[in-house]
Amino acid sequence: MANSPSGDSATDRLVRVLETFTPTRTVQTAADIGRRAGLPSSTAHRLVGELVDAGLLDRDGEGRIRVGVRLWELATRSSLPLRVRQAALPAMERVQARVREHTQLAILEQDEALFLERLSSPDAGANITRIAGRLPLHASSSGLVLLAFADLEVQERVLSRPLRRLTAHTPTDPAAVRRKLAEVRRLGHAIAPGFIEEISTGVAVPVRDRGGRAMAALSVVLPRDAAPGLALEELHRAALEVERALAEPR
Ligand code: PHB
Repeated sequence: MANSPSGDSATDRLVRVLETFTPTRTVQTAADIGRRAGLPSSTAHRLVGELVDAGLLDRDGEGRIRVGVRLWELATRSSLPLRVRQAALPAMERVQARVREHTQLAILEQDEALFLERLSSPDAGANITRIAGRLPLHASSSGLVLLAFADLEVQERVLSRPLRRLTAHTPTDPAAVRRKLAEVRRLGHAIAPGFIEEISTGVAVPVRDRGGRAMAALSVVLPRDAAPGLALEELHRAALEVERALAEPR
């Protein structure tokens, strides 16, 4: 693709524009997008206009920009997350109906836990996960399960970087995270009391492929001091069901 005078390609600029949208920043002006993407104002306005014309961004009556429905449509065709989500939904609905707390599905993506689905009942407690949002691997139950059953290379890369502290209970010492990962492998599940927010405990199990790697994590967010027994029992049963569904020929 053509390079700009600063040397970045049209693809680089397009990606920078799209990445200014986050799970909590979903509406912006073209000027905000330009500033956050590090683009000159005229370039930002032109690029945003072209993306609106192509349907990848939407503009409302007040000139505010959102990610376009056409982009969602194209991205949702991405076969792996869609297939995992479809295989998991019936089991997740059962977990959610029985445990009556938030139930999530996450995959490993670029060394973070990316959430594909979240089911919530109105009376469930706090939960910081968002669909299409991410959480750090060392600080969430889903992340710990994804990391514990990932390739060694991924584990070493994640543990070689600074591990951010989110609460007083987040494990940030690589040796402590290694011990936790060994425990997750031994027990077949992760319990993360207060790791990412003080008031909740995340409980997660892996959905594993034939080689033993986690294809996904199923999790429930409980109030901090709730007993995890029922959630674990339901999650283990659900994971087996999802593993069977994913093993079926498409
Ligand atoms: C977790 O998976 O550990 C987790 C996720 C979201 C929360 C709390 C805990 O809000």
